[in-house]
Order: sequence, then C-alpha cells, then structure tokens
Amino acid sequence: MTSRVVGPSVRSALRDVLEDVAGRATAYLASVPARRVAPSVEDVGRLRDLGGPFPSGPSEPSEVIRLLDDIGSPATVTSPSGRYFGFVNGGTLPAALAANWLAGAWDQNAALAVMSPVAAALEEIALGWLREIFDLPATSGAGFVTGATMANFSCLAAARTALLRRAGWDPEERGLFGAPELSVVVGGEVHVSLLKALALLGLGRSRVTRVPVDSQGRIRARELPVLDDRTIVCIQAGNVNTGAFDPAADICPVARSRGAWVHVDGAFGLWVAAAPRRRYLMDGFAEADSWATDCHKWLNVPYDSGLALVRDPEHLRQAMAVSAAYLPTTGTREPAYYTPEASRRARGVEIWAALRSLGRSGLAEMVERNCRLAARFADGLARAGVRVLNDVVVNQVLVSFGEPAVTRRVIAAIQKDGTCWCGGTEWQGHTAMRISVSSHEATDDDIDRSLEAVVRIARDAAAG
Ligand SMILES: Cc1ncc(COP(=O)(O)O)c(C=O)c1O
Repeated sequence: MTSRVVGPSVRSALRDVLEDVAGRATAYLASVPARRVAPSVEDVGRLRDLGGPFPSGPSEPSEVIRLLDDIGSPATVTSPSGRYFGFVNGGTLPAALAANWLAGAWDQNAALAVMSPVAAALEEIALGWLREIFDLPATSGAGFVTGATMANFSCLAAARTALLRRAGWDPEERGLFGAPELSVVVGGEVHVSLLKALALLGLGRSRVTRVPVDSQGRIRARELPVLDDRTIVCIQAGNVNTGAFDPAADICPVARSRGAWVHVDGAFGLWVAAAPRRRYLMDGFAEADSWATDCHKWLNVPYDSGLALVRDPEHLRQAMAVSAAYLPTTGTREPAYYTPEASRRARGVEIWAALRSLGRSGLAEMVERNCRLAARFADGLARAGVRVLNDVVVNQVLVSFGEPAVTRRVIAAIQKDGTCWCGGTEWQGHTAMRISVSSHEATDDDIDRSLEAVVRIARDAAAG
C-alpha cells in the first residue's frame, strides 16, 4: 500500500494559511460593531477585481486568501451584526462557527454512516435534543437539509407518499400520472417557498385551496374546507411578516379525525417552543404530521441548515429512498435516506455545537431576548409616530411610513445610511418595512442606535 507523501513544507504552508485566515476572520468579526451594515457602492464595485481571465497557473493559497479578504470582506453585508434585521437571517454562534471550521477541516461526506460515523452520530444526538425542544413524538425523524424551502419540499414529499400509498398508489415507482388526486389546503398568507415546494412536487402551486386569514395572517379555522384522507393541510408557525401562528389546536384535531396530513412551515417560529414565555404560541402544533424549520435562522448556525421533521420517518424514507435495494436492514440511521441529496456537508456538526453550547436556558434566553428587543423596537417606533402594522408576538415587526413611495424611500435611505439594515415587503395591501430580530448578537444598544437612525431618516423623508 502506498501513501501520499506530504512534505513538511506543504504542511507548514497549510498551517500558515489556516492561521492567517483565522486571524483575518477574527479581525473581520472584531470590526463588526463599527462596520456599516450594507456595503458601500464603491466596495461592491471593487468585486470585479476578483475576476479577470481564468488564471493561467497556480497561486499561493495565502495570496488567494489575502485577495479574498482585501476585496471580499469590505463588500459583505454585515449580517453577523446585531443591527442586521433583514429577511429572517440569524447570526452565527461562536461554537457553531468554530464547529463549521473544524468540520471543514474534517471534510466529511455526511451521506452515509460509513463515510462519516461522526456526522451520522451528531445528527442522531442533535435529533434527540430537537425532539425535546419542539416537544415532538419520540418516534419522529428528520432529514438535515439546506433550508426551510427544502425542508418544506421534503416534508411534503413524505406527505404525498403517505397519502398516495394509503390510497394504493406508489408514487416513487409509478409517478403521478394516473395517480389518485390529492388536494392541498394552505392559508391565504402561505410562504412562497411552500408554493415552490408544491410546484417541484407536481402538486401545483395554483391548484391549492387558500383559506381566508385574519389581519395577522392566521388561518380562520372555521373557514377550512371539508378535509379527507387525500388532503394535505399546510399551516404556519410564524408568518414571515407578522410572526403570527395559525390556530393549530383548532386545525390539527379536525384534520387528524378526517385522515388528512398536517404540515407545519415553522421556518423560524418553531423555535419559540424553546422559550417558556412564548411556548403557548406552539399550542397544538405537535399534533401535526411534519414540520419544516431552519437552524440558520433562529438557532444561529452558519448557512445552510434546515430540518425536515416527520412524525413517522418511514414516510420520509420512502420518499427519499434511492431504491428498495438501498434500504438498510441493520437499523442504522443512514442520513442520506432522509434527504433529497446524497453527498453533502456535515451540517449536523454545527447544529450539535450550537445546541451543546446554548443548552436549554441559553436557547430560551436568545429567543426571548430577540422577542423582547423586537417589542422594544416596535414601541420606540410607535412612540415616534410610525405605524406598526402587526401585533408583535415574536421577533417580527412590520411598519409603514405612509404612502408606498414614502415607505420605499425610507427603506432605501436606511439601507444607504448603514446604521442598520431592514428590507421591504407587501402586507395585505400595505407597502411595509420588516424588522426581524434574529441574531444572538442583538442588544438593547443595537436597537436604540437603529431606532434613532430609522426615526431620523423617516422624519427627513416626511420633511421632503
Ligand atoms: C415561513 C418561512 N418559510 C420558509 C422560508 C424559506 O426559508 P429558506 O430561505 O431557509 O429556504 C422562510 C424564510 O424566511 C420563512 O420565513
């Protein structure tokens, strides 16, 4: 047997570049509190210096990293900042970032246990803790996927398989042509990613039944259509705009009694289960059949990281299996049998590290603090005369500065100012700005500085 000879100079060059990048990354993170949140137009323009013709030969790794840091770092959006409130983007916990680096060095392929016993073991351990956090049945299983879009997709694939097999049709083998019809019920404020998942699955995004919702985007349970055992009902734990939760306690028992499958899009909202004072919002959700969530949102792990959780994991396994011959008979949990991908990175490592470092009380504190800070932001804006459009029940705040054009102008000016970052959205006929407090970095001071900037900019806009 021969082994590759790695000379001392190669090893020391590797050590040098890793130590160099650790120094650069640390310096970058140390600069975060003082950085603009959106990069300047000039810094973004300089990104073209990373291009040019494909290099004719190799470069030193240290030179590649120097170039990347010199040009790339100034052009980043400072998402690790406690003053980044865009979309629902969480920050990254120290243990999760460090675990991500170590996992990069390990270069594990998480598809099969034989390829990476550590990746497979950490997924199983994390899954056990996640079941506890979300109060899910001990039988439930999960696929560790890229994000909530793929988590919605994977859960709905499991739903499709379960309902069609029950009706005597094997969709994996026979496809959907000629299959019994399934119907899909969604709320009027369903997230676009769920509709995309339905489109990918051949269930169609327009043939859904949309149930009317209230002013917060919650399904009006009394207006649900008649459900049966060929129906998938999609509900939300956390509307992306308002943070509102559908009335699961009214929906799940009815759906269950009719044999329908209930899927929960809980991309960020599912995590309130970890916070004792907010847990009431999750009332009834544990009775569903599947749950999609993100770890890169409220758990604050690096991208990309989502979870497709299914009450009976056999349905997910049937939907994701490569072929019957591949199904294990040993009882080992093979990560790739629960995900659309085969080869993939070991994202369970960071989830484990985040959960291990926070513990129950740390996770509760992070979620609770984000919700408290969102309320602080909303109260400050309301006191300054800004119209808050939603009931701030969790970490999402929705505001309007008046006419759509004015709101759009204020949002653009906030992004240009750089003190904080908030994005725009449309909500039930209003052009609005959305503030999402989802980072472990966020402090009272971040909120107060951001509030001052937003109010100042809004007043300037109103003045003309
Ligand atoms: C409710 C909801 N579902 C799904 C998604 C999509 O998540 P991802 O971008 O991780 O795929 C989001 C993103 O904000 C969301 O808020």
